[in-house]
Amino acid sequence: MTAATTTHTGHTKLAGVIGWPVAHSLSPRIHGFWLKELGIDGAYVPFPVKPGTVEDAIKGLVALGIAGANVTVPHKEAVIPVMDDLDQTARRLGAVNTIVVEPDGRLIGRNSDGYGFLENLHANAPDWSAEIGPAVVLGAGGAARAIVGALLDAGAPEIRLLNRTPARADSIAADFADKRIAVGEWTALASHFDGAALLVNTTSLGMRGQPRLEIDLGSLPPDAVVNDIVYVPLDTELLKSAKERGNPTVDGIGMLLHQARIGFMAWFGGEPLVTDALRNFVLGS
Ligand code: ATR
Repeated sequence: MTAATTTHTGHTKLAGVIGWPVAHSLSPRIHGFWLKELGIDGAYVPFPVKPGTVEDAIKGLVALGIAGANVTVPHKEAVIPVMDDLDQTARRLGAVNTIVVEPDGRLIGRNSDGYGFLENLHANAPDWSAEIGPAVVLGAGGAARAIVGALLDAGAPEIRLLNRTPARADSIAADFADKRIAVGEWTALASHFDGAALLVNTTSLGMRGQPRLEIDLGSLPPDAVVNDIVYVPLDTELLKSAKERGNPTVDGIGMLLHQARIGFMAWFGGEPLVTDALRNFVLGS
């Protein structure tokens, strides 16, 4: 039984995740685990919100006294016009994944994806830090944008951005307007591995039901960290190949776990930690 079902609803802090579809979101498990572990009187639930109705849903958060929400596909951009303010990261990315309702009802849009990405690497590849060498980023969707921003902020000397559709990579490079971003050829992935300290897959390739990520790691330095943000399956073909040749690897679930801390602390308080117990609970093992 969760804390929420045993407490006085008048004091129970509420939050949730807004998406469509949202039933498969792991966020309720993450927040449910922390609420119980920290003994906080709260509840976190999925809110299935159809495209086109997100503005009403967000206004409903305020009307219902809900502390805030995570925002996932397809609403991360659509919620922006309803926000009263955006933090610097959400503004720069043009995407919100965490909404905080202030005590006066003001809506603040934040984005914790880049934070989750960096924290996951720091926790699981302790010898890596952004400034030690070039990063190769595969993909140019919303996740890539958050990751590129985080790597730039953390001092990466060079980011090689490779995407099937080069115009999307060009658009990220143009928006950040930072000379450290170099857009390269998707058809020649391996030619960009020279001296790399990090290789990250942000594409959906390798995800269950999606095509394979065809990649030859032969020219990747043996000490380069390989991170896949795909976490279904957890042990992707990319991570398996990297492990086989001895590269340090970091799987994708940690980014999701770490990004969740920002919302939890804002809505419920406390000091939620990313532990093996949380990870095993969320993965259902
Ligand atoms: P997210 O916001 O989660 O990052 P997205 O915006 O849908 O998701 O981005 C998906 C990424 O996977 C993109 O980089 C996409 O490449 P395109 O920009 O060329 O579409 C990449 N991707 C998806 N399917 C792919 C495929 N079959 N081959 C190569 N890249 C693919």
